Amino acid sequence: MVTAPLVLGIETSCDETGAGLVRGHELLADAVASSVDEHARFGGVVPEVASRAHLEAMVPAVDRALAKAGAKLSDVDAIAVTAGPGLAGALLVGVCAAKAYSLALGKPVYGVNHLAAHIAVDQLEHGRLPVPAVALLVSGGHSSLLLVSDLPGELVPLGATIDDAAGEAYDKVARLLGLPFPGGPPIDAAAKAGDPAAVGFPRGKYRDQTFDFSFSGLKTAVARWVEAREAAGLAVPVADVAASFQEAVADVLTRKAVDACLASGVDQLVIGGGVAANSRLRALAQQRCEAAGIKLRVPRPGLCTDNGAMVAALGSELVARGVPPSSLDFPADSAMPVTAVVAA
Ligand code: KG4
Ligand code: ZN
Repeated sequence: MVTAPLVLGIETSCDETGAGLVRGHELLADAVASSVDEHARFGGVVPEVASRAHLEAMVPAVDRALAKAGAKLSDVDAIAVTAGPGLAGALLVGVCAAKAYSLALGKPVYGVNHLAAHIAVDQLEHGRLPVPAVALLVSGGHSSLLLVSDLPGELVPLGATIDDAAGEAYDKVARLLGLPFPGGPPIDAAAKAGDPAAVGFPRGKYRDQTFDFSFSGLKTAVARWVEAREAAGLAVPVADVAASFQEAVADVLTRKAVDACLASGVDQLVIGGGVAANSRLRALAQQRCEAAGIKLRVPRPGLCTDNGAMVAALGSELVARGVPPSSLDFPADSAMPVTAVVAA
């Protein structure tokens, strides 16, 4: 039996330094070092701090992944790295590391799209993604709906946020509620004790017939509501506000995702990105997909947030398809469009 090539995936687009090892669709190791604690007091990721943390964590993360997989660096057949989108300085650390490994090992390197990797990672858990599929991508920097006619081939944008990303809304609302950064996990946890119908927060662009999103009005509505409570000398019911905010986000994301499937005549939805770790989004998506006859795939929460395995998963697919690797001078592209799956 011919074994699939061993692909090393490197991720440094934001505050997670990820190194993953994948063979075919099999996840062998996933080492992630996060600099989130260093950013927490600023309420958001500080690019320069993230870049420095990547520099320190990069080689140890690769070594940890290799040790976990019981592999040697010389066993690696190809390297994939996030080329964009993301923070320019942070991306550069991973891209330079990947090129150095490629040169030292004499193995090909693929500069890949972070967003496509968030979709490809699902294959490590659920096998090949049946296409066509609709992908809902929800992270700290992006919220979009895409038509996937082939993975890793064609990703056609159906809609995207016109202002804040879903994860960004979580992070900003957490701050308003005095919860730590990043805001997704603490809001998810707080919401469990709250009433999602306590406050009727607005659902931006809910019935506008597009597949675009808007979350800045929701964020402002939460801010005004909290301010009004405080001005009246009343305590802010954090669990209720968290649950009501989360319900508004999950409602609009799942409604538009299901509508996008129906409008495209597609019966397969895949959700990826950090916000896909959200318990209410996962439950509501399951419920609405079932009702609409759509098959749903969401990777386990640990694979939704940034990691190296997702990059290796996409790299593995590119290698399997015989896609030519990137040239050694490919750039880190902070604004890499979602339609560019691999850097030339
Ligand atoms: O994909 P990701 O790890 O990084 C980017 O590519 O941006 O996404 C990070 C975002 C953050 O905004 C974080 O608050 C959000 O994902 N997030 C969540 C949850 N876990 C992480 N949002 C809602 N619920 C969660 N459980
Ligand atoms: Zn991401």
